[in-house]
Amino acid sequence: MEPQQAPCGVDWRLVSARLPGLSLAHPVMNASGILGSRAVDLKRLEDAGAAALVTKSFTREPREGYPTPIAVPVAAGLLNAVGLANPGLEGLRRLLDEAKTILSRPIVVSVAASTPEEAEALARAAAEGGAAAVEVNLSCPHAEKRGLELAMDPDAAAAVVEAAAAAGLPVYAKLGVVDRLADLAGRMLDAGARGLTLINTVRAMRIDVYTAKPILGHGVGGLSGRAIHPIAVRAVYEVYRETGAPIIGVGGVYTWEDAAELILAGARAVQVGTAIIEEGEAVICRIARGLQRWLHEAGYERLEDAVAAAHRG
Ligand SMILES: Cc1cc2nc3c(=O)[nH]c(=O)nc-3n(C[C@H](O)[C@H](O)[C@H](O)COP(=O)(O)O)c2cc1C
Repeated sequence: MEPQQAPCGVDWRLVSARLPGLSLAHPVMNASGILGSRAVDLKRLEDAGAAALVTKSFTREPREGYPTPIAVPVAAGLLNAVGLANPGLEGLRRLLDEAKTILSRPIVVSVAASTPEEAEALARAAAEGGAAAVEVNLSCPHAEKRGLELAMDPDAAAAVVEAAAAAGLPVYAKLGVVDRLADLAGRMLDAGARGLTLINTVRAMRIDVYTAKPILGHGVGGLSGRAIHPIAVRAVYEVYRETGAPIIGVGGVYTWEDAAELILAGARAVQVGTAIIEEGEAVICRIARGLQRWLHEAGYERLEDAVAAAHRG
């Protein structure tokens, strides 16, 4: 079914994006953890023109998150350790119930599970609640057993992806920067992921020189924003080259040029995180409109023609 609306006033014939489970009027959506905990926040993103709406990562049990400070600005980015604060499986059900009455765009439910059972329960709630896809967060840099630690054990990560896929919705495995990323991505696709989201924040830390203690309450956190954009471009490029899989690119996207780089590297859609925190949600339409202008001026007939063009020399 073709998208009927064209958020941001863009022409979907030029900029529409097709990924498993997601037929998008344009390729720009929010990244998980940014305005995604409540249906009213997702509504704000929908009103701002996001082509799809990604929830905060949900765990089966509610989580309160880490002690403050949970975020600190750094040169060219943001360092955070929120600790996956979320209202759990029941909170996800409530969010999706409410979403049905106020939202019309596709919803991607982000799931952070440490066991296959947890992943399946959350993905089933997503399917029953009318979500379009599930993103399995295998890359949170500071949540023990539900993020990077899980991805360090590819068998455990594959079991989580397989269990989420059993619920029936297309699953995107969200990976962070690890050695042999393309191998891990291939493994997730073999386990039933239909696509990949690349990348999460990069494990990082700052220390207060007067107290001699880490600045974040949790010590270690995740770096996002401009600083990680070239890392995201490299990750998308290498993983696309090795797998050819549908990829959603994320990391330091502030402008249409940033988004275009990820698309040329192999991404079919992009997510925007820290730029929304820093510049507000209007950044979404600035990027979507800029992409449309670029595609037109560069002579591409549709977005698909630009996807992975950097691999064609
Ligand atoms: C405050 C904050 C909270 C985040 N929470 C989540 C989360 O719950 N799940 C997840 O998969 N990624 C989470 N992320 C990571 C983002 O989705 C994204 O992958 C990362 O920030 C890189 O994109 P950016 O540079 O555009 O922010 C969070 C990032 C920030 C800054």
